[in-house]
Amino acid sequence: MSYRKDSDSVELGECTRNPGYKDADGDGPAARDNISVSDSEEKRDSIGVKRLSDARDEYTQIKPYAGMPKEVLVLYSSKARYRVPREILFWLTVCCTLALVAVTIAVIALSPKCLSWWQASPVYQIYPRSFKDSDGDGVGDLKGIKEKLDHFEYLNIKSIWISPFYRSPMKDFGYDVEDFRDIDPLFGTMKDFEELLATMHSKGLRLIMDFIPNHTSDRHRWFNLSRTRDPHYEDYYVWTDCKPDGPKPNNWVSIFGNSSWTYDEVRGQCYLHQFLKEQPDLNFRNPDVINEMIDIIHFWLDKGVDGFRMDAVKHMLEAPHMRDEPQVDPNKPPELVTTEWDLHSDYTTSQVGLHDILREFRAQMDIYSQEPGRYRFMVIESYDYEEVYKTMMYYGTKLEKEGDFPFNFYLLDLPQNTSGVWAKHLVHLWMGNMPKGKWPNWVVGNHDRTRISSSAGQLYVRAINMLLLTLPGTATTYYGEEIGMENINVTASQIQDPAGKYNTSASRDPQRSPLQWNANMNAGFNDKTNLTWLPLHPDYETVNVEAQMKDDGSVLAQYRFLNTLRQSELPLNRGWFCYVHDDANVFSYIRELDGLKRAFLIVVNFGKESAITDLSSVRELPDELKVLMSTNKANDGKVLPKSRIQTEVGEGLVIQYSTNTRFNPNHPEECYISEKACYLETIGILYKCQ
Ligand code: GLC
Ligand code: MG
Repeated sequence: MSYRKDSDSVELGECTRNPGYKDADGDGPAARDNISVSDSEEKRDSIGVKRLSDARDEYTQIKPYAGMPKEVLVLYSSKARYRVPREILFWLTVCCTLALVAVTIAVIALSPKCLSWWQASPVYQIYPRSFKDSDGDGVGDLKGIKEKLDHFEYLNIKSIWISPFYRSPMKDFGYDVEDFRDIDPLFGTMKDFEELLATMHSKGLRLIMDFIPNHTSDRHRWFNLSRTRDPHYEDYYVWTDCKPDGPKPNNWVSIFGNSSWTYDEVRGQCYLHQFLKEQPDLNFRNPDVINEMIDIIHFWLDKGVDGFRMDAVKHMLEAPHMRDEPQVDPNKPPELVTTEWDLHSDYTTSQVGLHDILREFRAQMDIYSQEPGRYRFMVIESYDYEEVYKTMMYYGTKLEKEGDFPFNFYLLDLPQNTSGVWAKHLVHLWMGNMPKGKWPNWVVGNHDRTRISSSAGQLYVRAINMLLLTLPGTATTYYGEEIGMENINVTASQIQDPAGKYNTSASRDPQRSPLQWNANMNAGFNDKTNLTWLPLHPDYETVNVEAQMKDDGSVLAQYRFLNTLRQSELPLNRGWFCYVHDDANVFSYIRELDGLKRAFLIVVNFGKESAITDLSSVRELPDELKVLMSTNKANDGKVLPKSRIQTEVGEGLVIQYSTNTRFNPNHPEECYISEKACYLETIGILYKCQ
């Protein structure tokens, strides 16, 4: 038997010695000679291979070579020069793996929570009638939205809330739902919706739907079954006895004005509607109604939607005793009590039990949130005006989750008194009342409210966008705010909104005009026919997306810059927020993160005069401050002494500076943070800190 190594032509015949062999221990031929292997001891097995025990000495005298048989390999591998390094390597691997596991566990344990998608990006509200019309009927639609998704990539916006597109008779433009599981043909088909959602997801965009639990359309199947007293549906709505021409059951009024009771001839009773008479209120004291709504939540979550904006929730329950509500002015003749402002809505809003229902909705959404990366978001609409604590209840409690946040509408009041002090007051209404550890948010416009550019004035538009994008928490952007779109004038004959038909000054049409994409026909909203459901703002030839994309000093360019900055800078997206200064003109605050030298000072002039702000007493600021961005582009890059920070009316400055001294430790009562995190600058990671 012989083993052959081709390249070296080392051939080993039976009992042949290999004179070239020198082993690791320095054994040479001499030593080898001492190993006596007698031919007589050689034994062969049946197939002619030498037995290992007998062959050991002989084979170890051969140089290792490629293709050596297992038996020979084993002889070599047990030698110290091979065994020791192998064992060292083995233990090294074990130790490294253990160390890696330990480091991973430590990093996970020490890392603060990552921001979720609804925290990391502004929420952009699309009013689908007005965003983009793809089929030329003058009303925007789902395909139109799909066509324009690049807009969000450009702006770096990831969260899109689309106002209702359910099947609806459109008495309240979709807030009167006829079928919660269908799409209105005006907006497209279910296939269009599915395509839109899939495309959005493929671009990393999230879709938030409107969810309207308080009421349905009077054309909803449930209402028809309820008015005909189908046993199952009889109590789906809020019914009470009344006479066709007799007095109303009580003094409750609709948000759109006049009594919230309407007599139904079919059933011979009155039903409650806190909005239009075509929007009967569901009866949430009936568990079947709650279950119906949960099924609808499942339906859309199964389709993959990323969250819900919960509409008009404070109206979901009413007091079962149905007593008159107290009048704000007790001396007002009852027949003149016709608006929500005339009554304390003690029995028609925020009733005990409301939060339990919303928490149940939340719990259902949480089941769907367990899938990694698929957190389902809930934002709640409730106008509680000065009753801030009522709004804050929608954040839930430590033990029970509810909304991720309720919309913060306080900044809508900014135009009442444009000043630094007022801006701070409104911001503080939220920051000072928000439960610890929760996430703030800011709204300056929506489909129900006058555009802030019109109520505050164009002069403040850039400053307001700067405020939204540099405050802590999630900004909401109502379509068009990114270019500073203004309200339109709508003549009485052009009124579309039912609220406006009741009271012209309450019309919400002015803030719902088509988005101004470019200077072409219909501002690019409808490029097929000459139809638009509401008139365009005449300024569209200059105020439009396309023109502003070309101008790096535009409202749009500044919005984009600030949003991108916010997302890339830890102090802005999750750092401390500290009040620094406020006066008749200026509101100023710091965003900083413990452990990070880089910090930001924001100085915004919301007043009526230009101002020079002296921040020399703020020791934590360096003496010279460099403007990273001004809403007045000419001031970008300016270096200002901290004793003389100049701002014009409506001008905002983002100042980036470097410091070793953080502001928050010295002024804890002026500072807020949702979840504390510190930065380890040497290796560039965030960790949990106390
Ligand atoms: C919400 C909507 C509003 C609608 C009302 C009734 O407040 O924002 O547009 O009219 O609910 O659904
Ligand atoms: Mg209700």
